[in-house]
Amino acid sequence: MENLYHEKISETVYWVGVKDWNRKLFDALIPLPQGTSYNAYLVKGKSKIALIDTVQAGFENELQGRINGITDVAALDYVIMNHAEPDHAGCIPYILERSKALLITSEKGAKYAQLYFKVPVERIKTVKEGESIELGGATLKFIEAPMLHWPETMFTYHVEEHVLFPCDFFGAHTAVGMYESDNEELHVHAMRYFGEIMMPFRAMGKKAMDKIKDLEIKIIAPSHGCIYREPEKILESYRSWTEGITRKKVIVLYATMWNSTKAMVDTIVDSLLSEGIEVVVYDLAVSDMGEIIKDLVNSRAVVLGTPTVLGAMHPLALSAAYVIKLFKPPVQYGVIVSSYGWGPAAVKQATEILSSTKIELVGSHEVNGPPAEADLQKVKEYAQLLAKKIRLM
Ligand code: FEO
Repeated sequence: MENLYHEKISETVYWVGVKDWNRKLFDALIPLPQGTSYNAYLVKGKSKIALIDTVQAGFENELQGRINGITDVAALDYVIMNHAEPDHAGCIPYILERSKALLITSEKGAKYAQLYFKVPVERIKTVKEGESIELGGATLKFIEAPMLHWPETMFTYHVEEHVLFPCDFFGAHTAVGMYESDNEELHVHAMRYFGEIMMPFRAMGKKAMDKIKDLEIKIIAPSHGCIYREPEKILESYRSWTEGITRKKVIVLYATMWNSTKAMVDTIVDSLLSEGIEVVVYDLAVSDMGEIIKDLVNSRAVVLGTPTVLGAMHPLALSAAYVIKLFKPPVQYGVIVSSYGWGPAAVKQATEILSSTKIELVGSHEVNGPPAEADLQKVKEYAQLLAKKIRLM
């Protein structure tokens, strides 16, 4: 097998991952405009060698090709599984078959390794918070980080070189760039990624941020996207996102069939803009779900517009409402507007879904057919009320 390029990122650490330029979708939900990467790292101490995570199954040759330029795969002593999801752990069976390496993971990780990858129990060594392994001048310490974003997740920290390997945490779906300075759009992709993967677990994210706050971190080497050699900016973003700090910003999500719902949405948007409120607007028929989830990360309010179709919410608006419910953004206020032809139903359904979130409904308005002047005046009043509440925070 030919040797492929590997990147030396510090004295003993090498990037040996895969750039998946052609992947267009993740979790059957989130578009990937820049593809993604599965970052694996090799740590070569004076006496032992560890591979930190692997890559998605199907890229075995690429992983091995990058490792080959540093060492023979058979010489690996450890494979560290920070996270069991198959985009990182999928090549563990391949590596274990070709080496005598021990798999190092958390106790829950050990269960997943047996379940998903059929790793024999005698090949697994479990580690707890604060335990470490010594590779000869390279000490790898383990930090439990449960629910970021699976129960078994842990971080690995290179003590001597101050490199944090946090798996998905601090990740971004992009194949562009090895380091943060190589990708002009990295912040947007990091925010999209946080919204999709970490936002539902903000409380656990905050705990992890507290846990690492006194660590000296010179490099953050996540499992997707770019490596951070100046990590302060992404650390600051994560402090803000995990704490749920919002802007004076409204995200407007709507579906419309004959522009009646859109007419109310337009009035609300215009009113919010005149009040000096930041607004982002998504017509759900033509929008990227990754962008929507990105903007939910720091929006203070949401406006949901939906017609009634066949006695229910428009399916796209229903999907957006479920995304809000499931992804638990720090949004605090909401307004619902709707138009129906035969009978009203959408507002009731949308209200029920949002009532299971922490969003306070400031108002809702449902009209038969196109909105009259009085309807537009009513939704304008809701927009003004929304602006007042947003500004008060
Ligand atoms: Fe990138 Fe949760 O795996």
